[in-house]
Amino acid sequence: HVTAAVLAGGVGVRMGGPRPKQLLALDGRSVIEHSIAAFCAAPEVDDVIVLMVADHIAEVEKIVAAGGHAKVSAVLPGGATRTATSVAALDALAHRDDGDLVLLHDAVRPLVDRRTIAECVAALGEAGAVGVAVPSADTVVEVTQAPGGAEVIRSVPPRSRLRRMQTPQGFRLGVVRLAYARALADPGLVATDDCGVVLRYVPEEEVRVIPGAESNIKVTNPGDIEVAEALLRRRTGAE
Ligand code: CTP
Repeated sequence: HVTAAVLAGGVGVRMGGPRPKQLLALDGRSVIEHSIAAFCAAPEVDDVIVLMVADHIAEVEKIVAAGGHAKVSAVLPGGATRTATSVAALDALAHRDDGDLVLLHDAVRPLVDRRTIAECVAALGEAGAVGVAVPSADTVVEVTQAPGGAEVIRSVPPRSRLRRMQTPQGFRLGVVRLAYARALADPGLVATDDCGVVLRYVPEEEVRVIPGAESNIKVTNPGDIEVAEALLRRRTGAE
């Protein structure tokens, strides 16, 4: 059984505005509806759960009903942090078997494509955790603060081995449950992405990386809606 969990518990501080960015309109429907629709359309996915900012659950339920997204089985409250929302998703799947699969996806990546979802699920046949990532065109550097307070470069990791992680990130439930059980027992837990939690707390498990898509952008800052609309038009034109 494969469940997609659409994580939408954030309020979008960087985007600003009165409403969470996942409710912004993108080509006629909300950002979150694009994400929900992508997983409902994927034949590999059996059901979809949505973890939403508590105040806006009714709004998402309306979006789901009006859009006829029949694979959505629950709309539940998210948590105070991205990590807490991931944990809420896992709690909602407590009745599932350890061998079942979950795809954790940022609601604010509305352009996730069918190939990415299919390849993520397929890779879970071989690995217990799978992230999707793209190479970095820019050089990525590690910085630190010099004694005078200025920011300076500390290291330049080889670009060929760096990737930018996207979502979905897919897991066998037994693996991600164990990872979060250990993480939540660790007082030193620092927020990281879900693959990072498996890497750190279940080090014996392989965390596979498969190619993502440049178009799978995360709607984060003002202006990203326009970028997403342009990418969507290009995709529609190509079909
Ligand atoms: N998210 C979540 N629960 C939280 C925080 C974030 O489910 N408590 C989700 C967001 O809704 C989003 C995804 O995680 O779909 C990626 O997070 P990000 O882009 O950082 O979203 P926000 O936290 O909403 O944005 P900001 O950091 O600008 O406040």
